[in-house]
Amino acid sequence: MESFIAGLPKVELHLHIEGTLEPELTFALAERNGISLPYADVESLRAAYNFSDLQSFLDLYYQGADVLQTEQDFYDLTWAYLMRCRQDRVMHTEIFFDPQTHLDRGIDFATVIGGIHSALVAGRKTLGVSSCLIMCFLRHLSEESAFETLEKSLPFKAWIDGVGLDSSEVGNPPQKFARVFAKACELGFRVVAHAGEEGPASYIWDALDVLNTERIDHGVRCVDDPLLVARLVAERIPLTVCPLSNLKLRVFDSMADHNILDLLDKGVCVTVNSDDPAYFGGYMNENYQALADSLMASKEQIRRLALNSVEACWLPEKEKEVLRNRILAYV
Ligand code: ADE
Ligand code: ZN
Repeated sequence: MESFIAGLPKVELHLHIEGTLEPELTFALAERNGISLPYADVESLRAAYNFSDLQSFLDLYYQGADVLQTEQDFYDLTWAYLMRCRQDRVMHTEIFFDPQTHLDRGIDFATVIGGIHSALVAGRKTLGVSSCLIMCFLRHLSEESAFETLEKSLPFKAWIDGVGLDSSEVGNPPQKFARVFAKACELGFRVVAHAGEEGPASYIWDALDVLNTERIDHGVRCVDDPLLVARLVAERIPLTVCPLSNLKLRVFDSMADHNILDLLDKGVCVTVNSDDPAYFGGYMNENYQALADSLMASKEQIRRLALNSVEACWLPEKEKEVLRNRILAYV
């Protein structure tokens, strides 16, 4: 099973580029930028990755991003992730970035997106990894801040495929960003949002109906509402599920309790993703492996999960067909 998973061609749809910052790179960038860290070494930083919920993770995650200062830093971060894609046979990836985390520290939009975009172009050319880029608004910040961010992104619109919504979910419902998302849709951005990770099933309804999202990031709390599950099945609305993330942030008490295979077998278009792999203990292969180890996922279920990611991705249909055929040929 391990070698079957390792060799399987994959598509990733839920990956925060700031969440790929490994402790080794954190220390290297801190040194390069003359920043002192509140940790003695790589091991003590990694030892701090012990989370009780989403917020306890986000506090460390935003602090970690402080070492990202220059365009080269964003390039190196993105490049390191793309190298991992090659290692895990990820053929196509749709990446989130959080501009507000950096703008609020005085880093220009151009610096952030310039580094990420250049690495994505190089990844396509030299590693054969295709990609899309999704700009997320931080939901704990104001609507006004989201509008300012949208405005700042416009000179780089050709490099951004869609917008998303992340950060502290409970207490920051989709409605708070209804007008920003309407504007983004009007401007031609595709739309996704985190919903139903820690927040209630009603946030998933509202992401779909108020924000007009075409996918839901996480969405595992949909099981609390059978009508919602029926809708997800009927409309083939994809969920970008992140098993190791859910375990680390205690959305489920153990991997054996995870509902991804139940949702798959009910006909929901669930997909496997790594979210913030540097913080949650694994990239794509480890996320699939966790389902095999703890939920006894069969090869047939793993094949369906991989094909769901192709269905749910934003590539043109012709390119999807190529990926689908690679997966089927491999299986
Ligand atoms: N930002 C990075 N990872 C996140 C997650 N899992 N949920 C919400 N916001 C995030
Ligand atoms: Zn996420």
